[in-house]
Amino acid sequence: MDYEAKDWELNPHLYLQDNEGNFVKNKDGTPRKSGRPPKDAQDAARRTITRKQKNIRKLEEKLNNAKKSFKKQKTTLEKLDNTKEGVVTESDLDTLPKAVKEVLDNHHVFFHANEGPQTDFLAAGEKDVLYGGAAGGGKSYAMIVDPLRYAHKKDHRALILRRSMPELREMIDKSRELYPQAFPGAKFREVEKLWNFPSGAKVEFGFLERDADVYRYQGQAYSWIGFDEITHLPTEFSWNYLASRLRTTDKEIQTYLRCTANPGGVGSNWVKKRYIEPNESNKSFLGKDGLTRKFIPAKLADNPYLAEDGIYEQMLKSLPPIQRRQLLEGNWDVAEGAAFVEFSPENHITPFELPIHWERVKAVDYGYAAESCCLWGIMDINDNTLIIYRELYKKGLTGEELGAIITDMETEDPFSVNGVFRYCSLGKNRNNWSNCRRKFS
Ligand SMILES: Nc1ncnc2c1ncn2[C@@H]1O[C@H](COP(=O)(O)OP(=O)(O)OP(=O)(O)O)[C@@H](O)[C@H]1O
Ligand SMILES: [Mg+2]
Repeated sequence: MDYEAKDWELNPHLYLQDNEGNFVKNKDGTPRKSGRPPKDAQDAARRTITRKQKNIRKLEEKLNNAKKSFKKQKTTLEKLDNTKEGVVTESDLDTLPKAVKEVLDNHHVFFHANEGPQTDFLAAGEKDVLYGGAAGGGKSYAMIVDPLRYAHKKDHRALILRRSMPELREMIDKSRELYPQAFPGAKFREVEKLWNFPSGAKVEFGFLERDADVYRYQGQAYSWIGFDEITHLPTEFSWNYLASRLRTTDKEIQTYLRCTANPGGVGSNWVKKRYIEPNESNKSFLGKDGLTRKFIPAKLADNPYLAEDGIYEQMLKSLPPIQRRQLLEGNWDVAEGAAFVEFSPENHITPFELPIHWERVKAVDYGYAAESCCLWGIMDINDNTLIIYRELYKKGLTGEELGAIITDMETEDPFSVNGVFRYCSLGKNRNNWSNCRRKFS
C-alpha cells in the first residue's frame, strides 16, 4: 500500500503544535495562534472570578444567617411548647416569624416573671430547688405559676402543699385569678381542692399537718410537688417520702420538687443542711440521695410589686431583731433563742491559720436518740481563750460509727487530739461507748 503523506508533513509552515503535541491550523489555512490570550481578556476573566467569589461569600453568609435564625425560632417554639426547660423572654419572641408573632401579640400576657431570682426559680432545671429568704420576694406566687409549665399535657399531676389547710387559702385564691386566664376552661373543685385542665392535667392542693398525713399520698404519682414554707415541717421525713411519689409515664415531662421558705421555723435546721450549707447559693450540686439541688435566695427588692413603695419594707424594719434579720435580710444564720442575735459569720469571723504550738483539746458527749457532739478546741496562748474550731453534731450513730467519724476527721487535721468525755451521760448507751473507745484504740 502506497504511503499517503499527511498535509502537515507537506505544508508544515501552515501548522502549529497544540499543548498535546498535535498539529493544528485554522480553517483558512493559517496556523492557529499559540501563547497567552490578550491582556484585556485576562483582566475580564479575573474580574468575573472575583465577582463570583463575592457572590458565593454573600450566599454563604445568607445561608449561615438563615440557619441561625431557624435554630433560634426552633428553640423558642420548643420553649413555648414547654417540652424543653426554660423561660421565653421578649427577645426570644422577637426571633419568631411575623405570622407567629401576630398570633402571640393578640394574646393577653397574664404573668411576667420578676427579673432575677423569680425567673431563675422558674427556669431552674435541678430536680430539687429551694427558693428561700426574705418575706415578700415573690416566692409563693412563683410556686403557683410553676406547675402550669406542663398543664397542656394530659398526664401532668401537680401537688401544692402547706402545713395546714387554712394556710392554703391565699394560694388557692391566687390560683383562681391566674389559672383560668392561662388555660380557659380550667375548672376548680372546691371539695377536693383540685384543678382540672382541658388537657386532662391536674393541680391539687394539700396539707401535711403531721408526718403521718403523708400516707394520704401513698400509691399516688405526681410529676411536680411543691411545698410552700417548708421550714414549717419539723423533720425531713415527709419531704423524702413525697420525693418517692415523684414519677410520670410521659417521657416529655420532667419531674420536679420545689419548695419555698423564710429563714426560721421548726424545720430551719434540716432545710439549711439539705439546701443551703452544701454549696454556694445559686450553684447546682448533687445531694447524697442522687438528686440535683439548688438554693435560690430571695430578697424583697426582687419583687417590684411589694418593694417599690417601701411600705412593706418599713413594716419589716419594725419587727424584733431576729425576725427582722430573717424576714427583711433573708438571713439563715440567726436562730431563735440565740444569745447573740447580732452574730453573723461574715462580720464576726476572721479566718486564720491555727498555730501548731498551741495546745488542742476535744470534748465528746455521746447520744443516740439526741445528737452526739464532739467539739475540737485550741488554746490561744496570748490570752488563754479557748477557741472552738470544729464541731461534729449528729444523732443516730452507734458508738463505733461515732468513733470512726472522729478518727476520720482527725486524719485530715493532722493531729490526733486528746480529749475529755462526758461519762455520766451514758446511761443505756454504755455498750455503745465501749465500742467507740475500742474503735479509737
Ligand atoms: N411576677 C409577678 N407578677 C405579678 N405580681 C407578683 C409577681 N410576683 C409577686 N407578685 C405579687 O407580690 C405579692 C407578694 O408575693 P408572694 O406572696 O409570692 O411573696 P412571698 O415571697 O411568698 O412572701 P412571704 O415570704 O411573705 O410568703 C403577691 O401576692 C403578688 O401579688
Ligand atoms: Mg409566701
